[in-house]
Amino acid sequence: MGLWAKQVVPRLVEVGSGGEEMLAYRQRVCEGLTGRVVELGFGSGANLEALPPEVTGLVAIEPSDLAWRRSEQRRARAAVPVERGGLDGQRLDVPDATVDAVLSTLTLCTIPDADAALREVVRVLRPGGALHFLEHGLAPDDDVARWQRRIEPVQKRVFDGCHLARPIDELVGRSGLVMEWLERAYQPGPRVMRPWVYGYLGRARRT
Ligand SMILES: C[S@@+](CC[C@H](N)C(=O)[O-])C[C@H]1O[C@@H](n2cnc3c(N)ncnc32)[C@H](O)[C@@H]1O
Repeated sequence: MGLWAKQVVPRLVEVGSGGEEMLAYRQRVCEGLTGRVVELGFGSGANLEALPPEVTGLVAIEPSDLAWRRSEQRRARAAVPVERGGLDGQRLDVPDATVDAVLSTLTLCTIPDADAALREVVRVLRPGGALHFLEHGLAPDDDVARWQRRIEPVQKRVFDGCHLARPIDELVGRSGLVMEWLERAYQPGPRVMRPWVYGYLGRARRT
């Protein structure tokens, strides 16, 4: 991992994914979380303040030491115990069928093999447990999708592997989880930003 990815990208992510509007989305994706939760791509802990009181423990999966250090104050203030449970969502050091939920926000775009990560999600969830996700990905309009594919190689280089054109609903669907609900929409803003702001908010359950 180069200096840019190690020192700059985590700070850019923090700035770019903060704010009141984003917090409202974080609260929505966290609704209904209970018990022991694994969070893929914990980052600097931006979801901690959105966790409902029914969450009893959070296992944070986060490769960036800088992001983990920057989460320290949030972890200290959090109502739930947070442990760093690993560095890679593609290989979770968590026993089978032992967690109540998995949370992923703006992370399935970046994990190199999203299918592998979702296989791990299915493995660690107890039957009836759910994946809560808030992600950006492939847009439904051909012109926007074309731009996403054009820009993606540069985006991946600049933002440490972040893909623009992943079809999040298809990825989740083929993992074997059952989609319980899904909302898809462009976030408000100028048209030129559309390749970056097509969002998927949803929940999918292990049967
Ligand atoms: C765009 S950031 C999102 C951070 C946070 N989830 C949020 O909503 O603000 C993507 C995160 O995924 C993490 N990440 C990258 N590769 C990963 C992997 N293989 N497994 C788990 N997390 C990973 C990055 O370090 C980064 O913290």
